[in-house]
Amino acid sequence: MDKAVMSHLLSEHATPMYLFDGDALQQRVSYLRSKLPQGVGLCYAIKANPFLAGYLSPLVERLELCSPGEYRICEEQNLPTSQFVVSGVYKTPDFIQNILPYSPAIFTVESMEQFHLLHRTAQESGSPVALLLRLTSGNQFGLEQEEITSILTQYQNDPLLHFKGIQYFSGTQKTSLKRLARELTKVDEFLQALEALLGHPMEELEFGPGFPVGYYVDDTFQEGEFLDEFAQLLQNMTFSGTITLELGRSLVAHCGTYFTQVVDLKRNHKQNYAIVDGGIHQLVYYGQSMAMKLPPIRHITKHSPGNEEPWNICGSLCTINDILVKQLPLPSLHIGDVLAFERAGAYCMTEGISLFLSRDLPAILYRHPDGTVDELRPHLETYPLNTPNQKK
Ligand SMILES: Cc1ncc(COP(=O)(O)O)c(C=O)c1O
Repeated sequence: MDKAVMSHLLSEHATPMYLFDGDALQQRVSYLRSKLPQGVGLCYAIKANPFLAGYLSPLVERLELCSPGEYRICEEQNLPTSQFVVSGVYKTPDFIQNILPYSPAIFTVESMEQFHLLHRTAQESGSPVALLLRLTSGNQFGLEQEEITSILTQYQNDPLLHFKGIQYFSGTQKTSLKRLARELTKVDEFLQALEALLGHPMEELEFGPGFPVGYYVDDTFQEGEFLDEFAQLLQNMTFSGTITLELGRSLVAHCGTYFTQVVDLKRNHKQNYAIVDGGIHQLVYYGQSMAMKLPPIRHITKHSPGNEEPWNICGSLCTINDILVKQLPLPSLHIGDVLAFERAGAYCMTEGISLFLSRDLPAILYRHPDGTVDELRPHLETYPLNTPNQKK
């Protein structure tokens, strides 16, 4: 987005705020599709940015939702339930009973307990349910291979249970193609074993590759080559069913910008400090460490450039940890200047300690490809959430 567009937005909307750019989002989906083999589907894990679920819904095959709250977000926007994959380790009976009989969603199975809950609910309501059995990668998520095999052996002919396939996600920011190759081989072999058991292949593999995002200016990650090699790995699989990639950050990170304004400037012990109206409660980059890594930042100012100096950009919380970036070289900085932090479309907005100090949440804007801008959320007060109900 060019600086003129940013300046215009800032003349109409107060900081701190997030802006998600629809044009960048659409281009990103097209780019990923152009790099993946034909027929590979995309499932958007809405935890990466719940505000974008409605915009991505027409662009992807599926939406993965991991909590009743995420379900409500999609339901209230009337997104098609046939796109939903209801996932997550904690599924309550109430939640499942309230949606399973009325929704064509697919449910993932994370444990034997969840399997029995889903089966029981299907039996009690007489409603069939489509299932993806999550294979564990050796942590608290998913089922062991033996558990999946035993579920299928025992229940494959149950008319209420539609076993669609396997879900697998082992973590995020995976840059090692060797590791991804090992994982795909393991899943492929397991799917072959299941085919032998069932006498037919499973319909689907929903695979979360945890595609990496290069968040920092000195990142050397070569995305194009990486995706070409990953596409080759998919093509080498023997599995003949549909493959859907469950993605969050790789889909949305590039379309987000966080704007925060300089509200104070000072020099303490020979160091320059700029205080901004946002902070680490509103902006968290994956892998940031002691504010030493430099995300792409644009400086929006009405002043002419002066001598470049290093600035420590600090937020508005009462903690010395509230530093967004250290030693950022800037050609003079003024109160009222705005810093635009880019690649902030995924998780940055939700992973902060947003209730600390009872500061307002930032506004959320969406810029459509035609340039019109919607306010998806105004600045929101958090102090009521930290105020006891009882009056003294
Ligand atoms: C099951 C599952 N699928 C997909 C994702 C999305 O991961 P990413 O945003 O790294 O693509 C996550 C993230 O935690 C996840 O837990």
